[in-house]
Amino acid sequence: MKWIVANTYDAMSRWAADIVLDIVRQNPRAVLGLATGATPIGLYEALVRDKRENGTDYSQITCVNLDEYCGLPETHTQSYAYFMRHHLLDALEIPRAHAFIENGMAEDAMEECRRYDALLDKHPRDIQILGIGSNGHIAFNEPGTSFDKTTHVISLAESTIRDNARFFSSVDEVPTRAFTMGPKSILASKKILILASGSGKAKAVLDTLTGPVTEDVPASCLQTHPDCTLICDEAAAALLPAEWKAGVGV
Ligand code: PGA
Repeated sequence: MKWIVANTYDAMSRWAADIVLDIVRQNPRAVLGLATGATPIGLYEALVRDKRENGTDYSQITCVNLDEYCGLPETHTQSYAYFMRHHLLDALEIPRAHAFIENGMAEDAMEECRRYDALLDKHPRDIQILGIGSNGHIAFNEPGTSFDKTTHVISLAESTIRDNARFFSSVDEVPTRAFTMGPKSILASKKILILASGSGKAKAVLDTLTGPVTEDVPASCLQTHPDCTLICDEAAAALLPAEWKAGVGV
């Protein structure tokens, strides 16, 4: 697993945008695995800026998202479907028919998971973007999730509900269950880019990069991937050993 310590959140976001843009420019039909949350917003802003300045073409790009809250319709402002349209998809002019996410309102959850697994098989990802939870989760795969899982429904950890309450008017409004790609689905992407910003992620970054590969730290499964890069800012790198903080490592 490679890692990059960027000076700031903006530098981290620009670095990530350069990697994504390389893929999009080389292959106008690339499949991008996308993430929600606060962390990738700077990356998405950089892609939108590039589109405005350079006219990068996304008309043949396909996007698949990691996860979606159970029980929120796509029109809900805190649904991840809404987040993606608002922060990225509309500005990049990605056709609606090319952008996929789990249906949070699906009546038959098992069937929805099967549908999404089939969709991921049909659209193999060139890159998967990830954030990381303060407890080391990736997508909504909470500690203890089997690395063999594909798309499934998960009950959110108390810490995740607390972390995400900042996006809702109260903690009671945060959905308690979500659809999520599993670790196995994430590891199927050709390339993986995981972003971490802020001191709240420092322990998760330390465990992901230097700890054992264990289901107690879902992101540690990324150590087994042949092409995964973690990019973090200095605050998220704070607990790394001094020689790891120097910049770029393999
Ligand atoms: P954040 O969430 O980017 O909002 O910190 C990341 C995550 O929980 O995966």
